[in-house]
Amino acid sequence: MDSSGISVTALFTGQVWYVNGLSARFFTSARSRWLYGLLQPSERLGRALLGLSVEDMLLQRHLVMDHRIDRLVREQGLSQILEIACGYSPRGYKLSRKYPGLRYVEADLPDMAARKNRLLARHHGFGPDHQVVPCDIFAQRAPLGLEHLMAETLDPDRPTLVITEGLVNYFRLRDIRPVWSRLAMQLSRFPRGWYLTDTVLAPGGLAAPVLGLGVHTLSLVTRAHVNLHFRRDEDIQTSFTHCGFPHVRPHRPEDFVEQLPVPLHATGRHSPVRVVECEAQLQPGKTHQS
Ligand SMILES: C[S@@+](CC[C@H](N)C(=O)[O-])C[C@H]1O[C@@H](n2cnc3c(N)ncnc32)[C@H](O)[C@@H]1O
Repeated sequence: MDSSGISVTALFTGQVWYVNGLSARFFTSARSRWLYGLLQPSERLGRALLGLSVEDMLLQRHLVMDHRIDRLVREQGLSQILEIACGYSPRGYKLSRKYPGLRYVEADLPDMAARKNRLLARHHGFGPDHQVVPCDIFAQRAPLGLEHLMAETLDPDRPTLVITEGLVNYFRLRDIRPVWSRLAMQLSRFPRGWYLTDTVLAPGGLAAPVLGLGVHTLSLVTRAHVNLHFRRDEDIQTSFTHCGFPHVRPHRPEDFVEQLPVPLHATGRHSPVRVVECEAQLQPGKTHQS
């Protein structure tokens, strides 16, 4: 499956993170600034019509994910992270400095991985145990397949987290579910294995046509099948459980307002953003190390 059209959206997210103080300037570019400026009128419209802009939602998911990662490192012994579809994510850059014992592997399609490698090398951005490698989540074999990538770059004896941020809504459920099943299987081989991802719930009522238009536009721009897979938290739970993750927690941004500066819905309604935290089943013979 050719999903390279999605790469352009990473420019916008990268700019959002920088503008909001979450990233370094070298992850931005003239193109990302241009795209960010171009989308400001629709962002204002989105906030006026829906009470929440795309930028708000990107910040919600990123802040909640960062918070959960910190917790896993500090409280659960997480010491190895694979961030798939990393785009211009600043996490590898920031976390590999903050936690020098942490192994951080970033992965993306070959062009994006090469770009990120160049950026990090030019700006002395690599941490002590940090690398960027090419991958394609739909590839089944070497050199780009998940199984090959995980076997080659990860230490099987470390508690491990796989992250995908801003990726899964670009694919049909029937295409992305096999990827989740493969991840659940791979993660069960580590002493502990977590998967952190995000999704946007399909809205009902007045928000549905507005968001539907946004989804249609994004599908055209990215040449992908952007779609909102779930209506309720229970659907998320069921889907990930069927893929082999017995422990599934869909986090709502509103539940973190006490700890994090998450932008909230102007109307007081709940955000459709969910950060989904899954833990894999341990294979027999493995024991928790935390
Ligand atoms: C929407 S961006 C998300 C990037 C970043 N995580 C973020 O939140 O901005 C999607 C990223 O997925 C990458 N991507 C698209 N298809 C992929 C695939 N089949 N395997 C791995 N990465 C892929 C793109 O190159 C792009 O960097």
